[in-house]
Amino acid sequence: MSSLQGKRILLGVTGSIAAYKAAEWVRSLVKEEAMVTVVMTRSAERFVAPLTFSALSGNPVYRDMFADESERVMAHINLSREADVILVAPATAQTIARLSMGLADDLLATVILAARVPVVFCPAMNSNMWAHPATQENIKRLQHFGYHLVHPDSGTLACGDVGDGRLPEWDVARETLLALFEPDDLIGKKVLITAGPTREPLDPVRFLSNRSSGKMGFALARTARRRGAEVTLITGPVSLPDPPCMEVIRVTTAEDMEKMVMSRASAVQVIVKSAAVADFKPAACQVHKIKKTSQGLHLALEKNTDILKKLGENRKHGQILVGFAAESRDHAGEGLRKLQEKNLDLIVVNDILGTQTGFDVETNQVTLIDRKGSAVLPLLTKEDTANRIWDSVVSLLHKRGGDAG
Ligand SMILES: Cc1cc2nc3c(=O)[nH]c(=O)nc-3n(C[C@H](O)[C@H](O)[C@H](O)COP(=O)(O)O)c2cc1C
Repeated sequence: MSSLQGKRILLGVTGSIAAYKAAEWVRSLVKEEAMVTVVMTRSAERFVAPLTFSALSGNPVYRDMFADESERVMAHINLSREADVILVAPATAQTIARLSMGLADDLLATVILAARVPVVFCPAMNSNMWAHPATQENIKRLQHFGYHLVHPDSGTLACGDVGDGRLPEWDVARETLLALFEPDDLIGKKVLITAGPTREPLDPVRFLSNRSSGKMGFALARTARRRGAEVTLITGPVSLPDPPCMEVIRVTTAEDMEKMVMSRASAVQVIVKSAAVADFKPAACQVHKIKKTSQGLHLALEKNTDILKKLGENRKHGQILVGFAAESRDHAGEGLRKLQEKNLDLIVVNDILGTQTGFDVETNQVTLIDRKGSAVLPLLTKEDTANRIWDSVVSLLHKRGGDAG
């Protein structure tokens, strides 16, 4: 799985009421085996004791530029050299203002000025402080310097006000960190991804569906976003939370999925259809619950539209179309047949018989087939598989001369 494992994160904690949340963030980072070093401002220490951060990170906490521990003389230089990324969370209006001016009046500010690694700010403050023109100007200056910003959340703040200013959720900050370690080869590309199963109703309480969990499609959406794409994710019913920083549209039936996909298709350069759309639906959905009888029940089914085929017939010039096929045998033969029949650029064939592949597991083993040939990928996490699919899409886009407009 794409992760922050082994990454050296320098976390700057400043004097916001949200400082206690940074302790949870350290726990999450340590859980995924990132190496965390915390630098606190003097004000931050009024909110959370340094001991909390040193206990959670397993490392000393740095606070004083003029500390005289011999191994940490010139801490401001050494700390900035030893990090892969600097995360300032929560970032107060005061720290944002100081850094927008290039001040170096405490250890954290000096470390950031001396750093040549990416710096990510996660502001947290009262909504009026956030909206103040001075803060907005300062934020613009930080962005102009090349620093990254995770926009604060909206909601009820600690002071009781409602508005922008809450510390963003960890998941959103984590995605921003992960994106720093990925190529940005999908910047400027609009991508439509479908995921999950569909449900075809039989009566008010029953439906026909399949075992798709949506994990592969959600992994595709997250990884595309990290590589810079503007993502729309259309998903059937799954238990996964919305991935951050993208448009997520939830649908139920194959017909809903078809309508939503067709209404969005012409606006995107790449479509990846990983949803397991039901091939058939009950010919009629009963208004009342079907009663138990001593006899069996015969269901009349009718065919749903093949959305992938319809996309292949209607696609605009230059658009890349990627399909998925779940197969139990003759992966290459079946994949090639569907690639040609549905006018696709790339098909991803899932092995549904393996215990570690296909539905509802964290890993996958797929065969990628395009018009030039095929490649059997090893068993990988779904995010790693997704990245391999994006590598192929990027190379198809390059061959096609890039933009489909
Ligand atoms: C209870 C309390 C909560 C505060 N919360 C915030 C906050 O969420 N965001 C903010 O920008 N400042 C907040 N402040 C003000 C900062 O602590 C103050 O501006 C301080 O100088 C920040 O210093 P630093 O940026 O060096 O940590 C708060 C102050 C108090 C007393």
